[in-house]
Amino acid sequence: MKKLRIMSVFGTRPEAIKMAPLVKELACREEIESLCCVTAQHRQMLDSVMKVFDLRADCDLDIMTPRQTLSSITSKCLTGMDGAIERLKPDMILVHGDTSTTFAGALSAFYHQVPVGHVEAGLRTYDKYSPFPEEMNRRLVTAIADLYFCPTKNNRDNLLKEGIEKGIFITGNTVIDALRTTVRSDYVFATQKLNELDYANRKVILVTCHRRENYGEPMRNIMLALRQIAEQNEDVELVYPVHLSPVVREAVDAYLRGAPRVHLIEPLPADEMHNIMARCYMVLTDSGGLQEEAPALGKPVLVMRRETERPEAVEAGTVKLCGVVQDDIVTMAERLIRDRNAYEKMAHAVNPYGDGKACARIADAIEWHFGRRSERPADFEV
Ligand code: UD1
Ligand code: UDP
Repeated sequence: MKKLRIMSVFGTRPEAIKMAPLVKELACREEIESLCCVTAQHRQMLDSVMKVFDLRADCDLDIMTPRQTLSSITSKCLTGMDGAIERLKPDMILVHGDTSTTFAGALSAFYHQVPVGHVEAGLRTYDKYSPFPEEMNRRLVTAIADLYFCPTKNNRDNLLKEGIEKGIFITGNTVIDALRTTVRSDYVFATQKLNELDYANRKVILVTCHRRENYGEPMRNIMLALRQIAEQNEDVELVYPVHLSPVVREAVDAYLRGAPRVHLIEPLPADEMHNIMARCYMVLTDSGGLQEEAPALGKPVLVMRRETERPEAVEAGTVKLCGVVQDDIVTMAERLIRDRNAYEKMAHAVNPYGDGKACARIADAIEWHFGRRSERPADFEV
């Protein structure tokens, strides 16, 4: 029988990290031909992930421009996807998460009447503008998709509440699959600065920040809070790989650069990032992916946002929301720096997001959907 042509579409760093193990799993299946179309919504940060995971694109839309707008990303993806779908003729398109690439990839698949599988489906804040535009992207993709690969039971329940009745699978998050291939206790960093840090005697805090809804006042508050934390705590080292967005870089330059004990570095390759996360004291972030990775590595996370679509690790006690007000961020961070009990309560490994077998479940589900496997895969359970 003809192989199923399953085309994964992604364009940003987090999508690539989370789709990499799936692209590989699909490639191992006898029944499947695994195709890969990158929009390159992120150019350098995507290429870095492709290199770490040794992935090759069958099609590269190369859409990124500096300071791109949401409309330009979406329209360029749509136009580029027409050619990709016509040339590669997929039987199903897989999109991931909630970026503009995700939305445009799903919409384009719909225009070509190609079924869509949504990886990391069912995350919600139910606040239309936060995260912006991601909350709306994922809701729009839900309306288009045929198969829903939910990381957790909570994500599945969100979809059930919205009236989605068919095609839902609880798989775990593929990021845990990725993490299992990158983290090593004997890992030696290519970034020399990271080998030189004294992880045993200094409190190394890993920082990232990039969200669009934090642009402006919230991002300024975040930068000033980071500066204050570094200035007030001599036993702390802040390691901050700065996102390539010019908006983020301007905020860093204006409010944080030059502060003592702050190490501003270029974005790290995914394996470097996962290994510094495994060794750091705690994480301060507004990222989605770090909220899933750090708990699995037993690292407390303060989320510099007002809400989260990932309540599971908050419930498990390893993630706390600290908001975007300077004093609140400083107070909550200093509590974890000074109060051993408060720290220990948060510093335990939890894996509400997966067991490292999400990609196998997704591949099984696709084969089952197309009648190439007799049994529906069992849901992931914590
Ligand atoms: C995008 C996603 C966001 C995701 C984030 C992950 C949308 C609307 N947003 O946000 O959901 O959390 O990626 O990081 O899809 N740039 C480079 N090189 C790169 C990457 C970015 O120069 O490799 C610069 C460019 O000037 C680009 C800008 O960063 O225009 C912003 O990139 P963009 O993808 O529009 O937004 P992100 O904030 O990265
Ligand atoms: N990441 C990375 N290098 C960095 C910063 C982040 O490899 O310098 C990884 C991180 O480990 C996670 C993913 O990128 O797997 C998260 O991406 P990001 O924070 O850009 O996006 P989000 O998850 O918020 O959508």
